[in-house]
Amino acid sequence: MKLDVVFCPSEVEAIELRGKVAVVVDVLRATSTIVTAVANGARCVIPFLSPEEALKAKRSDPRGILVCGEREGKAVEGFDLGNSPLEYRPEKVRGKIVALTTTNGTRTLKLCASKGASRIFAGSFLNLSALCQRAIRSGDEIVMLCSGKEGRFGLEDAVFAGFCVFKLEGLSRGVELSDSALAARGLAEGFSDIVGMFLRSEHGRYLARVGFEEDLRFCAKIDLFDVVPEYMVKENCLRENDEGKR
Ligand code: MLT
Repeated sequence: MKLDVVFCPSEVEAIELRGKVAVVVDVLRATSTIVTAVANGARCVIPFLSPEEALKAKRSDPRGILVCGEREGKAVEGFDLGNSPLEYRPEKVRGKIVALTTTNGTRTLKLCASKGASRIFAGSFLNLSALCQRAIRSGDEIVMLCSGKEGRFGLEDAVFAGFCVFKLEGLSRGVELSDSALAARGLAEGFSDIVGMFLRSEHGRYLARVGFEEDLRFCAKIDLFDVVPEYMVKENCLRENDEGKR
């Protein structure tokens, strides 16, 4: 099995994703939020690039759709929920469609879909083991795509990719690592305290400053959930794919 890590979305243009399994990563916080929403019973999550598009979707079904997401980390005015996974409680999201727009994470998902990956999963510490097991069963070339921050490297996503390298090596013999996957593994070795790592990262420091320190503790929980949201490109939404589970 081959394993590659793309540290910045700006590199995605240059790589071939056709026929490969893609794991989109934005642990602070878009993919942690998507995993939490699906685990807590949301029917699916539709990624949108802009708040205007998400609001338009809500107008088509005001009761069934929650319009959610952030700009500068904060809930957008008029939205039902922001991008804090702690808001996505079962009583809020069960049975609902979540129309989500975030600065980086939903953008990476869309970008990835446009590049023709065979399967696209949302990964976070919250579903680390289930994600790695599913990825391994889905193909023999896996690419982890880190969302970073505004096109640039983000420490938290790269360290998570490194945790996945360790996990995948434990699950499969003969994993062939790209240079970036090796580098991610090396990074993860240096950061065993995930909350501490978040608090040192630029985006983690920003989130703590604007009042979301509790989110950092939540997003650092390993294997809280066993759902693996998959981006079903034809349906344009992320949901648990029961076929993939078997
Ligand atoms: C994003 O997609 O940029 C993030 O998830 C930002 C955030 O922490 O809300």
